[in-house]
Amino acid sequence: MTVRVYAIASGKGGTGKTTTTLNLGTSLAMLGKKTVVIDADIGMANLGLLLGLEKSKITLHEVLSGEAEVKDAVYNGPSGLKVVPSGLSLKGFQKCNPDKLKQVVSSLVDGMDYVLIDVPAGISRDGIVPLAVADRVLLVVNPELSSMADALKTKTLTELLGKQVEGVILNRTELEKTEINRNKVQELLGVQVLEMIPEDVNVRRAAAFKIPVVVRNPASPASIAFRRLAAKIAGEKFTEADVKLVSGRFFDCLSRTIFKSKQT
Ligand SMILES: Nc1ncnc2c1ncn2[C@@H]1O[C@H](COP(=O)(O)OP(=O)(O)O)[C@@H](O)[C@H]1O
Ligand SMILES: [Mg+2]
Repeated sequence: MTVRVYAIASGKGGTGKTTTTLNLGTSLAMLGKKTVVIDADIGMANLGLLLGLEKSKITLHEVLSGEAEVKDAVYNGPSGLKVVPSGLSLKGFQKCNPDKLKQVVSSLVDGMDYVLIDVPAGISRDGIVPLAVADRVLLVVNPELSSMADALKTKTLTELLGKQVEGVILNRTELEKTEINRNKVQELLGVQVLEMIPEDVNVRRAAAFKIPVVVRNPASPASIAFRRLAAKIAGEKFTEADVKLVSGRFFDCLSRTIFKSKQT
């Protein structure tokens, strides 16, 4: 299949972009899809932290500063997922040339089915480049007005770049007891809601264990939603049987998750 490059964006910070990038990416990998996730949030890098890759010497920082090659910044994640983490230092961030991201993505697409880019919040250059580089944009929003307003700006920016937002992921749906539901979001943003991810305490717990929640608790409410979203994106069926079936595969997945953070 032709590779699909997704930017996982929001506008506002803290809506769940990194959580979505990691768990959607892992779910696609669990479906047997060749998937790479890239932490393009070069100022506030979190993706590596969620996988225990924070001590990696070579990251996207070194690649964007021209000090290292992309292949040396690719690490193994769970279920065959490939991961390009970013560095945590401010110095590393300052050295980066965000415009190099296009080259990075180009050199990663070979043999891949999906590339997911974790996009920084805001509308600075490092946030705009990933929108320009990706061929599809997904917005992660929370059911609150400030999140909608910022997502709307990102949508406008995407359109200014000549692209369309493909869908919205409404995350943490029980967080706010407001009436901002699926229809309201679709009406406000003018984009279809692909999936609603419920507030789920397992998300934070899995983060503390540095294991994606879809691997640690595959049948938890948020995991089911992430896995259903992956199936939808991959054009595969997701049934109740899948929810139960995966429990049997849980230990298999878990064992594959206790991966070495070795380079590929
Ligand atoms: N569905 C969810 N249920 C519970 N907590 C969540 C959920 N999604 C995200 N979180 C938590 O919200 C915080 C922000 O998520 P994160 O993915 O880092 O957002 P962003 O990358 O957009 O800044 C994290 O502490 C994460 O664990
Ligand atoms: Mg993030």
